[in-house]
Amino acid sequence: MRPNTIKDSHQSTRKVRGQVMIFALAFVFFLLAGQSSIMAQIPDKFENLKVLPQDITKSKLVSIMKKFTSALGVRCVNCHVGDASKGFSSFEFASDEKELKTKARFMLDMVKQINSELLVNLNTSEREKLEVQCVTCHRGQRRPVLIGDTLMSAYSNGGIDTLVAEFKKLREKYYGSHTFDFGERVLIRIGSQIQALGDMPGAIGVYRLNAEYFPESSQNFAQLAFAHLEMGDTTSAVENLENAVKYSPEVPWFKMQLDKLKGK
Ligand code: HEC
Ligand code: HEC
Repeated sequence: MRPNTIKDSHQSTRKVRGQVMIFALAFVFFLLAGQSSIMAQIPDKFENLKVLPQDITKSKLVSIMKKFTSALGVRCVNCHVGDASKGFSSFEFASDEKELKTKARFMLDMVKQINSELLVNLNTSEREKLEVQCVTCHRGQRRPVLIGDTLMSAYSNGGIDTLVAEFKKLREKYYGSHTFDFGERVLIRIGSQIQALGDMPGAIGVYRLNAEYFPESSQNFAQLAFAHLEMGDTTSAVENLENAVKYSPEVPWFKMQLDKLKGK
């Protein structure tokens, strides 16, 4: 019985594999068919190119346009007049009515100047040459802001609670993407900025938020300790430094600060 069972299971695995293969091929075919009908709805001749070369091929132009959408986290319809629900045949790609398109053209020209007029003078070897692209700055957003800028403006608008809410919202949406840095040092840097403004409870709020994601960060514990110390709360400062030492016993600096605080 046994060999038969094995044979059966081999056969059925092969059958399943065959089905998966057919499904995959059908899917690729579906994608290609979709692509070609999309391509068919885009005009073959372009009427209003002011920066891109006049003789650019359709496939090159469309691949540049797709890069725009992913670099900025937008869709074709954000720059071009048209009704996305009716497909590309309803689009007037040549129209300059949308402000985002004219801004993008300005950017395209700027990037061209950076690469062909400025970076060329750096004399980088052909092998190591790098060019600036939209995504170099934009990283998936329309306006290439940094997380620090966004959080500090949330803080100026509504204080620490607004900052915390903004951070959680951004993290929910962007964690794992290239748009924002959610590393351990980001909130430490922002907390220090707020500390420098003299808002100790605010800074402590930022470090506590950081501790939700990096509960074993010694640097974060040390920052908490110094903010508490500035508020005259030595007990909390000692507690936090003890944690810093606990999680980074190999760093003598935390131990030295703790001893100093305890008057040793
Ligand atoms: C961020 C803005 C932006 C996005 C998003 C964008 N485009 Fe464009 N598109 C432009 C700009 C700018 C030009 C003109 C370039 C120039 O002047 O050289 C252009 C030109 C075109 C043209 C040529 C029009 C003509 O006749 O002159 C076509 C076709 C086009 N885009 C298609 C698309 C498609 C399809 C998408 C989505 C996949 C898309 N675009 C997404 C900004 C954008
Ligand atoms: C060197 C960095 C850099 C590069 C590269 C870059 N951008 Fe920008 N872009 C910016 C900055 C900064 C702003 C915001 C300018 C402002 O509004 O003050 C901006 C704004 C824009 C805006 C307007 C957004 C809005 O909501 O008002 C568009 C559209 C845009 N860029 C498209 C592009 C495209 C397309 C490319 C590639 C061809 C590109 N950018 C490359 C830095 C860059």
